[in-house]
Amino acid sequence: MRAKITVVGAGNVGASVAQRLVERAYADIVLVDIIEGMPQGKALDLLESGPISGFDSQITGTNNYQDTAGSDIVVVTSGMPRKPGMSRDDLVLTNAKIVASVGREIAKYSPNAVVIVVSNPLDAMAQVAYRVTAFPKERVLGMAGVLDTARFRTFLAQELNTSVHDVEAYVLGGHGDTMVPVVGMTTVAGVPIDQLMSAEKLSAIVQRTRDGGAEIVNLLKASAYYAPSAAVVQMVDAIMLDTRRVLPCSAYLNGEYGISGLFTGVPCRLGRHGIEEIVSIPLTEPEQAALTRSAAAVREAVEIIDARKNDVDAALPQLFEQPTTRVPA
Ligand code: LAC
Repeated sequence: MRAKITVVGAGNVGASVAQRLVERAYADIVLVDIIEGMPQGKALDLLESGPISGFDSQITGTNNYQDTAGSDIVVVTSGMPRKPGMSRDDLVLTNAKIVASVGREIAKYSPNAVVIVVSNPLDAMAQVAYRVTAFPKERVLGMAGVLDTARFRTFLAQELNTSVHDVEAYVLGGHGDTMVPVVGMTTVAGVPIDQLMSAEKLSAIVQRTRDGGAEIVNLLKASAYYAPSAAVVQMVDAIMLDTRRVLPCSAYLNGEYGISGLFTGVPCRLGRHGIEEIVSIPLTEPEQAALTRSAAAVREAVEIIDARKNDVDAALPQLFEQPTTRVPA
């Protein structure tokens, strides 16, 4: 029997994730959305590409979470998209409600799943999913670092007229204006980046990386989806194929990197059970300070949710109560 992966949200990001995954052919895919007909139509269209693209995996669309039961991985893309000029944090309350209700369905129908959150503001939404599912911290993670790192690598490779394959980098921290491209760990074919580029040029590229999501939104009048879906699928590959790759992911930290009780982007070793290890890499003092600042920005988004507790509490009582017991790992 093939593995089963559910993609929640059949918008651009979700559909693009579903396409990339069904073409991988190692899992059957369920695409779920509240809009009637849309996930069914996109899933059928993708299924009919199988004879051409050469996959036998199944993909079905549904409006019913019962059809997602027993998923190995659930990718959560649902939420309001960012509009031009809108910060990720503007989305926080609306998307918290959406992600909380999705989280509840996941916990009910796929209690053993690894959950990958893509909805924005990313780190706060991962925290919502973690609270609502009560899954162990190893099984709830957010996609952002792989995307932000890919943008950083793209811009560096373009500037140096070199292959993206040779650019090694990490972007850590929250998925927002405070993200932390770790310049000290960035190399091109093994050569430290600061030997290849002026500090001025590098800092312009760091800024363009931080604004990478907004740059696309301004052009497209909608959120990016090709690079985000590629990033999700790199994480799914590492989990499904148990590769134990180290990728930057948003993870619940319990003192690692001096951060506690919060999701923030850090290097994670991914395997069949989700996060196998939070990998400690040496940071310079300024990099660690930037990471601490970035975590503080994530905490602010979480506090927006907590502060508006009364507004939404009736709809989402579980959101504000840390479960006393977690589902066993
Ligand atoms: C971006 C969205 C997906 O950074 O957060 O493009």
